[in-house]
Amino acid sequence: MKVTVIGAGTMGNGIAQVFAQGGNEVVLTDIVEPVLEKARDTIANSLERLSKKGLISETPDQVKRRITFTKSIDDGAGSDIYVEAIVEKVELKKDILQKINEMANEDSIIATNTSSISINYLSGFVKHPENFLGMHFFNPPPVMKLIEIVTGVRTSKKAVEKIQEISKDLGKEPVVVKDYPGFVANRVLMPLLREAIVAYEEGVASKEDIDKTVKLGLNHPMGPLELADFVGLDVTYDVMKVLYDEFGDPRYKPPITLRNMVNAGLLGRKTGEGFYKY
Ligand SMILES: NC(=O)c1ccc[n+]([C@@H]2O[C@H](COP(=O)([O-])OP(=O)(O)OC[C@H]3O[C@@H](n4cnc5c(N)ncnc54)[C@H](O)[C@@H]3O)[C@@H](O)[C@H]2O)c1
Repeated sequence: MKVTVIGAGTMGNGIAQVFAQGGNEVVLTDIVEPVLEKARDTIANSLERLSKKGLISETPDQVKRRITFTKSIDDGAGSDIYVEAIVEKVELKKDILQKINEMANEDSIIATNTSSISINYLSGFVKHPENFLGMHFFNPPPVMKLIEIVTGVRTSKKAVEKIQEISKDLGKEPVVVKDYPGFVANRVLMPLLREAIVAYEEGVASKEDIDKTVKLGLNHPMGPLELADFVGLDVTYDVMKVLYDEFGDPRYKPPITLRNMVNAGLLGRKTGEGFYKY
C-alpha cells in the first residue's frame, strides 16, 4: 500500500515508521524542512534500537528505504491511506483535508490522528465521509500498542473493518470508539492527571511521593505528574479544556497551577522543565 502521513512532528514520524515497518511505501510530509531532518534522525535511531533488540526482522536500511521525506504534499497523490498528524488546529486541519480531497482516490481512507477535535466535524471537509475516521495513535507510536479507531456518524463499516485489519497487520491492538470528547483514553486519563495536580497544589504530598504512590500503589508504569510532563503540559491543558468545555463537568477543569506553568513556558520534557527538571 501507499500511505501518506502529513505532519512529521512528535506523532507523524512515529506513525510513518510504523507503516514502513509494516512493508508499506510511505510518504512523510511536513512544511518545515528541519522537522523532516529531525524525523529522519528520530526514525533512524528508533529502528537501530529495535534492530539491536531483535524486534524487527529487516535491517533499519530496508525499512528506511520505504520512506520518502518531502516538503511537497503532492508526492502523496493516489495513496491508499492518508494519516493527518499536523498541529491540533481546526483551520489548518481543514486546509489539509481539502488538499487531500484533490489527491485521494475514490476509495482512499482518510484518517486523522486528532486527540480532541470531533471526527464528525472534520468529516464535513472531506469528499467521502464514509471513508473518513480517527486513527488515534499513542506516543511513541512505534512502541505503544493501542490505536483508538474513532468512528463518525457517517463512517462506513467497511472503512472501520479495513483499518482494524491494517492496525493488526502493523502489530497494533485496535479498539473502536465513538466520536465522544477525549474518546476513551484521554477521558479516563485526564481526571487522574487533574487530581494529581490538585493534590500537589493542596500540598497533600510532594510531587515525587504523589508519583510514587500511583506507581507502586496502583501499579502504573509512570506517575501522573511525570506522565503530564511527558505528554506536554500544554497538550494536557488543551485536552482538559476541551473535555471541560464539552462535558461541563468540574472533574475536567484545568487546575490553575497547570495554566500558570503553561503560560510561563514550562511545558514538561520538551522545554526541559515541567513538574520536574530534565
Ligand atoms: N503528542 C502526543 O502525545 C499526541 C498523541 C496522540 C495524538 N496527537 C495528535 O497528533 C497530532 C500531531 O501532534 P504532535 O504532537 O505530533 O504535534 P507536533 O507539533 O509535534 O507536530 C505537528 C507537525 O505538523 C506540521 N504541520 C503544521 N502544519 C502543516 C501543514 N499544513 N502541512 C504539513 N505539516 C504541517 C508542523 O510543522 C509540525 O512538525 C495532533 O492532532 C495531536 O492532537 C498527539
